[in-house]
Amino acid sequence: MKSIKNIKNLKGKKVLVRVDFNVPIGDDGVVDEKEDWRIKASLPTIEYLLEKKAKVILISHLGRPEKKQIFGEKMDDSFCGNDDSDNNKYSLKPATKRLEELLNCRIKFIDDCVGDKVKQEIEKMKASEIIVLENLRFYREEEENDENFAKEIASFADIYVNDAFSVSHRAHMSVCAITKFLPSYAGNLLDKEVKILSDAINNPTRPATIIIGGAKVETKLPVIENLLDKFDHIIVGGVVANVILKAKGIDVGKSLLGGIDFEEAKKIDLVDNRLHIPIDAVVCNSKKSEVDLLAVGNIGDDRILDIGPESRELYSNIIKESKMIIWNGPMGKFENDDFADGTKMVAEAVISSKGYKIIGGGDTIAALEKFGHIDKIDYVCTGGGAMLEFFSGKKLPGLKALE
Ligand code: 3PG
Repeated sequence: MKSIKNIKNLKGKKVLVRVDFNVPIGDDGVVDEKEDWRIKASLPTIEYLLEKKAKVILISHLGRPEKKQIFGEKMDDSFCGNDDSDNNKYSLKPATKRLEELLNCRIKFIDDCVGDKVKQEIEKMKASEIIVLENLRFYREEEENDENFAKEIASFADIYVNDAFSVSHRAHMSVCAITKFLPSYAGNLLDKEVKILSDAINNPTRPATIIIGGAKVETKLPVIENLLDKFDHIIVGGVVANVILKAKGIDVGKSLLGGIDFEEAKKIDLVDNRLHIPIDAVVCNSKKSEVDLLAVGNIGDDRILDIGPESRELYSNIIKESKMIIWNGPMGKFENDDFADGTKMVAEAVISSKGYKIIGGGDTIAALEKFGHIDKIDYVCTGGGAMLEFFSGKKLPGLKALE
């Protein structure tokens, strides 16, 4: 992987940087200062390029907008920029505003990522200026890794930089196809994350434990089998645990299952004694909204929303003895205090362990912030799913494309 530091002359060059500005936007249409960590993480690359007098064009996705435009077809007025459009909540405009505040300079935001308007604005750019383009996922060709879409976006720039480790596990246009059309480099953040995670997995201190929770089961489940070879313990919670319990034939009632194909779950060695699953759960009855505590297998009509006290104790004992801990995904719906204790106790066990600690992913970072422990973590990775795939030994499509 070539780094941007290898580029000799950046002066006046148009540099297309794939960042990950996938940050939560508040109901007031503003990025909360507590939620801007992904924007802050991209600053070293942006500042480096500005210092070298490059013209910086930032591209990113935000969320998973359902309404998608087709590249080459005219966008109708209700698509975005209209107050009634659902797509407004996926706009990168609030993230641009936050970046302006962080850099204390004016940044142009363009409400599309292709087309004449984008071309004209980029042509007018001066050295050390920044433009942010609209959410790439407004076009379905982003997720389809479409080469024509890549060609069009590549035509705006001289150089491409991937600084979004957290999305490099997706074979999407802005991390894969684009590299076919421009000289491509790794940004400072991408470089740093790959180095730190490689050092951790190549020289693990043992026992090494990985904690996997949260949702996005379709990304996390396929890597568990490989992770079993690399870690001494795998601890599961959240929707990931529900799916594993169900695959083992244990009743999980009306719990969320992430809409996945169960064949994937059945590929995991479910009786491997390194895999730790919840034994009890905090549940909520969908009809009466009552919180209750039940043993797994006995969930009936209820829904699992947190791990129970016995599971917490089991998990905490393993975590406290671990010399390396990797964590992605909360144990339950920690945003609601009725279902926060599992995640809180796991967080306390993580920080009280003397082991090296890496956490990654938006919800895990938010949980550690909520419980006031984020400063006690050795490395906070911007990626959740990407981090798990990396540790599983899978070559991430975005990293492969840079080679
Ligand atoms: C993330 O939040 O993990 C990254 O931004 C990737 O988002 P995705 O899971 O929607 O592809």
